[in-house]
Amino acid sequence: MQHLSKLPNVETTIFTVMSALANKHKALNLSQGFPNFKSDQKLINLVTNAMNSGHNQYAPMPGSLALRESITAKFNLLYNSSYNPNSEITITAGATQAIYSIISTFVRTTDEVIIFRPAYDCYEPTIALNGGKTISVQLEAPQYNINWEEVKHKINSYTKMIIINTPQNPSGSVFAKSDMLQLQELTKNTNIIVLSDEVYEHIIFDGEHHQSICLFPDLKSRSFIVASFGKTFHNTGWKMGYACAPKVLMEEFKKVHQFNVFCVNHPIQIALAEYLKDSNHYLKLSQFYQEKRDLFLSLIKDSRFKFLPAKGTYFQVLDYSEITNENDIEFAKRLTIENGIASIPLSVFNDNNLDNKVLRFCFAKTDDTLKQAAEILNQI
Ligand SMILES: Cc1ncc(COP(=O)(O)O)c(C=O)c1O
Repeated sequence: MQHLSKLPNVETTIFTVMSALANKHKALNLSQGFPNFKSDQKLINLVTNAMNSGHNQYAPMPGSLALRESITAKFNLLYNSSYNPNSEITITAGATQAIYSIISTFVRTTDEVIIFRPAYDCYEPTIALNGGKTISVQLEAPQYNINWEEVKHKINSYTKMIIINTPQNPSGSVFAKSDMLQLQELTKNTNIIVLSDEVYEHIIFDGEHHQSICLFPDLKSRSFIVASFGKTFHNTGWKMGYACAPKVLMEEFKKVHQFNVFCVNHPIQIALAEYLKDSNHYLKLSQFYQEKRDLFLSLIKDSRFKFLPAKGTYFQVLDYSEITNENDIEFAKRLTIENGIASIPLSVFNDNNLDNKVLRFCFAKTDDTLKQAAEILNQI
């Protein structure tokens, strides 16, 4: 029997393709975005304790109240902005499930959703599965600035949602306060929902402050924030995150969430509730990753790759236009097979696969791995 695909243009993600190629050729894998060092033993012990003390059955549908309260406390501390733990926060299976459920909750056939490219890869297929249409705004390399005039022209009566991501994967750029104010202005007095993907909120460099959507009251009133504990606490395999939004939006979200997954891993929630109480666990993260970025960039400063230091995330994009004319997918594959280092070509995230001759390298790696990576890159 033949079935008509609901996602005819979707293939295996580039992350899977490049990681598989890296494994096959025993290359250093700086492609997929995960750390190659351990999560804090304290947190692992807290999970073990939670399991041993019997938190092994379903969690409440929106998540453990203790964890929701810890998240509220974090918002108050960092942004002086509050979400009600009883009605405005839901714990999810990573940011991905939060994003899937938010889009599924609100996007209908003929709705348009604006995204900024290069964009994280789960947005577009999820919009398509729900019958929506993705409208792309291409950010301009190498700064990845936003053309707000273009955004303004693309907003119309069909615009249901705008998805933003700051700090941004894959470009490593961040939204400035002026960007958020533009967004606030453009969506004022509309019913447009903003999905703010803030999974890298704690990884921002050079003294910059993360511009969370919750800092802008008018925007906050129509927005979701999604976050990922996997990104924050070095355990992407646990797939834990959360969504928060004003009550009216969250009520609709929960209708979908309860039939999408109902609830997520209970013992990890109990552990995270405790672990989040010490703000050092997330406040020190920017410094930790800035040191990794700086080490990596200082080691490759004399290579033929050109770069502007990432402003946030644990990704650094490198421009290889002085090295070869090859398209970025071919070059990324060749580097993996012949030189033993895997990265992600940016064109797959761009509008019409625009090829700016840049590759993304993940620097959430041990210093040793970064040194080995630099040695290879310096020889190219
Ligand atoms: C921008 C962005 N959003 C969402 C996610 C997914 O996060 P999670 O692993 O918590 O589902 C990622 C993971 O790479 C990401 O980079």
